[in-house]
Amino acid sequence: MPNIEITKPELIWPGKYDEDGNRVIDRGVALPFQVVETIREGRATREPGHIRDLFSAKPSSHDAWRNKLIWGDNLLVMASLMEEYAGKVDLIYIDPPFAIGADFSVRASIGDTSSQVEKEPSSVETKAYRDTWGQGFTSYLKVLSDRLGVMRDLLAPNGTIYVHVGPTVNHYARCILEELFGVGKFVNEIVWRRAFAHIDPNRCGQIHDILYVFQKGESRTWNQTLQKPNPEYLEQFFDQYDENRKERYNRLPLDAPRHGDGGNLIYEWKGVWPAPNRTWAYVREKMEQFDRAGRIHYPKSGGVPRLKRYESEYEGTPIQDIWTDINKIHNQASELVGYNTQKPEALIQRVLRASSNSGDLIADFFCGSGTTLAVAEKLNRRWIGCDLGRFAIHTTRKRLLGIADCQPFEILNLGQYERKHWQGVTFGDEKPAEPNQAAVAAYVHFILDLYHAQPLPDTHVHGRKGGALVHVGAVDAPVTIGQINSALAETAALGQHELHVLGWEWEMGMHDPGGAASKADPPGCACGCSTSPGRSWSARRWSGGTCASSTWRTWRRRSLKLPPHPSPLPQRGRGGGQ
Ligand SMILES: C[S@@+](CC[C@H](N)C(=O)[O-])C[C@H]1O[C@@H](n2cnc3c(N)ncnc32)[C@H](O)[C@@H]1O
Repeated sequence: MPNIEITKPELIWPGKYDEDGNRVIDRGVALPFQVVETIREGRATREPGHIRDLFSAKPSSHDAWRNKLIWGDNLLVMASLMEEYAGKVDLIYIDPPFAIGADFSVRASIGDTSSQVEKEPSSVETKAYRDTWGQGFTSYLKVLSDRLGVMRDLLAPNGTIYVHVGPTVNHYARCILEELFGVGKFVNEIVWRRAFAHIDPNRCGQIHDILYVFQKGESRTWNQTLQKPNPEYLEQFFDQYDENRKERYNRLPLDAPRHGDGGNLIYEWKGVWPAPNRTWAYVREKMEQFDRAGRIHYPKSGGVPRLKRYESEYEGTPIQDIWTDINKIHNQASELVGYNTQKPEALIQRVLRASSNSGDLIADFFCGSGTTLAVAEKLNRRWIGCDLGRFAIHTTRKRLLGIADCQPFEILNLGQYERKHWQGVTFGDEKPAEPNQAAVAAYVHFILDLYHAQPLPDTHVHGRKGGALVHVGAVDAPVTIGQINSALAETAALGQHELHVLGWEWEMGMHDPGGAASKADPPGCACGCSTSPGRSWSARRWSGGTCASSTWRTWRRRSLKLPPHPSPLPQRGRGGGQ
């Protein structure tokens, strides 16, 4: 048991403290961002026939700013944002996964087709996901706590955070938030009824989520939100009827607490004096105006008169902490993008409207299908979004492009730096920047294992899968034609005819049909390439003399034509994967 001095109630989990009682916190490391794509205009305004009216176009209040969609593990992403954005984010909404132990899969429409397909994440993506979340509650607490600590530092002094959780983890999340922000910074526990009914055998149906709201400093942005009148409320409180106006009304006080001697608010009105310690709420002239307009309710049995408020004048009550008027997205809703955990825009709109203003910087570091970013875009807020999943980034990108007048945004990742860091911490000796040979060898074995290939001892050929040999590209450099040539020469020397090259990135020109690849195919050999961008292994296809790989930049399959083979091609199957 670590040597910890317990001074206040606290949530503890395995690994929270080291043997000496020091708090173990992973704050990630700052790595350089790579701009993968810059998007200058939304699809809706680019569509043929759409003529952009210079004068009615949405003004960009933040011309120098570029909204950011970042692909990667949010801990590294946030650590990399710290230098520039510490203390600058006005509002954070996060909806981290809370189906502990559930398998990680998402629905997304892939490529240029509009059909929805259940998309299994790639092996590397799944591995990254399980490494982070895979140990149930223990990893949940650590992951959340490490990340919330960095989020707190990114928040502006008057910033607010909303943490969306389910009933299996909410109690933990609140303890962590109180520890990081302070008990006094708790603002609300909002219960969101997301469904009308759910059949849960042998217990009450679970139909709510929780949103915890904490503020960072002494003040925060708050715009009063009115909740629509509820029919039951109207029935109960608008219990009087005005025959002249033919309308229901409720009764508001016409008196108020007394301050000082009460001044000109103390007088007799139609035989009634205010109670001791109270005054009228209005001066006599105002009361006379109300009376002439028939707006004063005089109780039949005498007593203090009250002011009539008609149903048509009632805009709603200030928002309460139980939200029952926003339902989960209907399966026919136009905003549905086919991402399993997508939240309704109305929910996020309420959050953003209440706790931010136009031009504010909003962040969602678990952005999924990009609901927060889409709403921020529509409400003219600036935004930063991040997700670990390739399909999340793909879905968000597509969704944002569909917004008319979408401001320019950029897609970033940490690219080779994140992969090198991952290689170092996963396979190395805690020096991620300079993984040693053993770490590199362990990495190659790991990739081969994922690809279901057996390791081989040769130099350029790292493994064998069925009848094909396999070359594994480095994490921090593009696969070059020179490397492919060497691996192909070795393939030929081993009397083999098929080589699969697995790479994260490719040398310039490698995606050009007939370009570089034409130099890299000795007679009798064929080469299939597969891309594995970020931490994920993307689609790979192997057919005839064509090697198709998908570049994440365009999300389209691109083809590399291999030169015609002098001898019949060996029988080829798919290179595995999706
Ligand atoms: C519940 S979903 C968010 C759904 C989102 N609110 C929406 O409306 O679409 C959680 C997201 O967190 C992402 N995620 C999980 N761990 C992550 C990490 N370490 N870094 C970045 N994103 C992560 C998952 O890929 C998933 O898309």
